[in-house]
Amino acid sequence: MAKVDVDWSSLTFSYRPISQRYVANFKDGKWGKGGLTDDPTVTLNECAGTLQYCQEVFEGLKAYKWQDGTVVTFRPDQNAKRMIDSAKRLVMPPVPEEMFLEAVDQVVAANKDWIPPYESGGALYLRPYLFATGPVIGVKPSDEYQFRLFGTPVGSYFKNGIKPITICVSDFDRAAPRGTGHIKAGLNYAMSLHAYIVAHQNGFDENMFLDPATRTYVEETGGANFLFVTKDGELVTPKSDSILPSITRRSLIDIAQSMGMKTTQRPVKFSELGDFAECGLCGTAAVICPVGKVVNHGEEICFASGMKEMGPVLTKLYNKLRGIQMGTEEAPEGWIRVIK
Ligand code: PLP
Ligand code: COI
Repeated sequence: MAKVDVDWSSLTFSYRPISQRYVANFKDGKWGKGGLTDDPTVTLNECAGTLQYCQEVFEGLKAYKWQDGTVVTFRPDQNAKRMIDSAKRLVMPPVPEEMFLEAVDQVVAANKDWIPPYESGGALYLRPYLFATGPVIGVKPSDEYQFRLFGTPVGSYFKNGIKPITICVSDFDRAAPRGTGHIKAGLNYAMSLHAYIVAHQNGFDENMFLDPATRTYVEETGGANFLFVTKDGELVTPKSDSILPSITRRSLIDIAQSMGMKTTQRPVKFSELGDFAECGLCGTAAVICPVGKVVNHGEEICFASGMKEMGPVLTKLYNKLRGIQMGTEEAPEGWIRVIK
């Protein structure tokens, strides 16, 4: 394969088609054999279930290039399992974990030149997704589906990297009680777009969504979970049935515990935010992004860590997580999958 023409020093979080992606089809009640294609285009029937009734779920994970050239992915089995849960909730045939992992391995192996070099700090973002291709006009699940997985080289999700951001409390809800907030379905993200545009128009980087039933508890942003650190150095993460169970958050909780930190998952009231010393967002795309300030209709909550840099506890967690992903820290068993 020809070496690729990318300026690794100016990577953003954006899409660019790369050499190969994986495709498999579900038809007549079973998955066919999947494989790689160089065609980034999807052609669909006009009445496909994904177009009419939003039957689509997806995942996000990253492949990294270590200093010695080793290529790895981070906990892809966890993404495979979450996509199975997401698919079941939208009455779609789950992609078997082995097929998901085979797609990850094949796409990363076929696109090694597209993985940003170690020094760039970037990664190859992988986007697996499953969508209804069969036509439906009455409201019902489709009979046919496609699973695809593509990659795109990315840098930081937020344009200023790990500088603290300012977010606002959204007046809109992202997910209904007993709805689909806990799965990774495209429809949740469609729900968040209007709020995202309004936040940006008002000069904010992101939204804080509150619990849709009472609007008193903190949920998450459009694309990441929250982390809070108390003045005593305890890591607190919001517990809710309508937020996405973040793999990054779960990993950070394990890392914090291994460092001897106290961790608690519990409902977090909006009214207690001012008591925390540090706040951050976490996710595959965001890694950890510090939040310096939360604004709710003119009321400002400023965290003690300030607007200049990430606070000390989140920095410690960030360094350890990045070290594990980039091969400079020892990983807990099963977290790193080496791609041959
Ligand atoms: N919450 C939402 C809404 C997300 O889109 C994501 C990103 O995947 C996360 C949280 C973080 O999840 P993870 O750490 O598994 O990427
Ligand atoms: C991810 O972090 O993988 C996500 O899916 C979030 C998305 C908003 C980019």
